[in-house]
Amino acid sequence: MPDRTVIRGGFVITAADEVHADVLVEGGRVAALATQDSQVSQGWAESADRVVDATGCYVIPGGVDAHTHMEMPFGGTVAADTFETGTRAAAWGGTTTIVDFAVQQRGRSLREGLDAWHAKADGRCAVDYGFHMILSDVNEHTLKEMDALVEQGVTSFKLFMAYPGVLYSDDGQILRAMQRTAANGGLTMMHAENGIAIDVLVEQALAAGRTDPRYHGEVRHALLEAEATHRAIQLARVTGSPLYVVHVSASEAVSELAQARDLGLNVFAETCPQYLFLSTDNLAEPDFEGAKYVCSTPLRPVEHQAALWRGLRTNDLSVVSTDHCPFCFNGQKELGRGDFSRIPNGLPGVENRMDLLHQAVLDGHISRRRWIELACATPARMFGLYPRKGTIAPGADADIVVYDPNVTQVISAETHHMNVDYSAYEGRRVTGQVRTVLSRGELVLEDREYVGRAGHGQFLPRGTCQYLL
Ligand code: URP
Ligand code: ZN
Ligand code: ZN
Ligand code: ZN
Repeated sequence: MPDRTVIRGGFVITAADEVHADVLVEGGRVAALATQDSQVSQGWAESADRVVDATGCYVIPGGVDAHTHMEMPFGGTVAADTFETGTRAAAWGGTTTIVDFAVQQRGRSLREGLDAWHAKADGRCAVDYGFHMILSDVNEHTLKEMDALVEQGVTSFKLFMAYPGVLYSDDGQILRAMQRTAANGGLTMMHAENGIAIDVLVEQALAAGRTDPRYHGEVRHALLEAEATHRAIQLARVTGSPLYVVHVSASEAVSELAQARDLGLNVFAETCPQYLFLSTDNLAEPDFEGAKYVCSTPLRPVEHQAALWRGLRTNDLSVVSTDHCPFCFNGQKELGRGDFSRIPNGLPGVENRMDLLHQAVLDGHISRRRWIELACATPARMFGLYPRKGTIAPGADADIVVYDPNVTQVISAETHHMNVDYSAYEGRRVTGQVRTVLSRGELVLEDREYVGRAGHGQFLPRGTCQYLL
């Protein structure tokens, strides 16, 4: 395997800088950056085992997608991407690190849940991966186990205010878990929707014959997301725990976050491309096509998008991850024909995030450096992976993407690499495309040819949150 690689002629973009520079990779890490055509860089090119030509391209850190669900059991079925297919698709889309959610089964230990996720991922991933832990059963035993997980590099814990009877935790359980993360350095992640109220509205909608996918969006009211977000923030304040709210979609929830952040609290949040680019118009597509867009929190009326873009600029939203949780239209989404509450929740997207956000740069929503901050640097900091991941700097893992900002592509299930039979962005034209990807210095994608392998990706024990105020 070549040990010295030079990435030549590109425009290096990190969250901090934009600079024409060549990048030397040695032993899987970034060794140095040098001015193009300098004597130093000339010397590298002569002695390198491999030269990657990045002329006319951006050279960016590999994406860090801090929210994926490979092979996740949900609603009587299992998310369609395995760790093998999902991480391969991630690489195609310029993402070289995922943080996936291990799930604690009710009545079982965190350890068992985590072991099960290790077994699914071990030896199968194309790129590096870490785990968060979903707590579905907060009790004396699991609370103690949280400390051990933090020690083992699983430093973030997702709790659900939604899905009563399945993943739901009540306020007392949430409070106890937050007391624990306040003490052990962990980060509490919250699915903030008032699931108790939503379940009543679901029952009433179905009883009234409102069974189509679009009612999924109507019963999961924006105010019930905002209310839960507010409640999560107050519980975090009472306990002193940092809080990270996942998949924010409602403008009213962004307002709650902005208020908390204006108080200087350690409250952070992400949104996802589906909330920035899709809306309830998609949920209302006829012939049950709306089922393709069922996820929770739900897609919102298009008016919410402006608040999300603003939040991304003001840093009230500081991360964009995908919540990649793909279910095929045929055989999986179809489980909910005649009853929207039986449609498995989740959208594919791990392959599309970097491109959609690059399009957002071209559309004037965010700057190029903000693109990298939202998609690479901040998720790495938030989840204890920086500066190993999320930047291009001496010592960092050589997870590097050569990105062609001038190619226009049409997103389609015909050409994507996710193991799912539709694309949520079918037919959308975006400018910008991943050309070459390195993971720890090894080529995974070379001029849009896949040259990676299952098992290259390693488990990443993570540190604690590096984004605290
Ligand atoms: O609809 C979604 N988001 N599915 C994945 C599970 C979750 O709540 O993140
Ligand atoms: Zn969730
Ligand atoms: Zn603010
Ligand atoms: Zn999720």
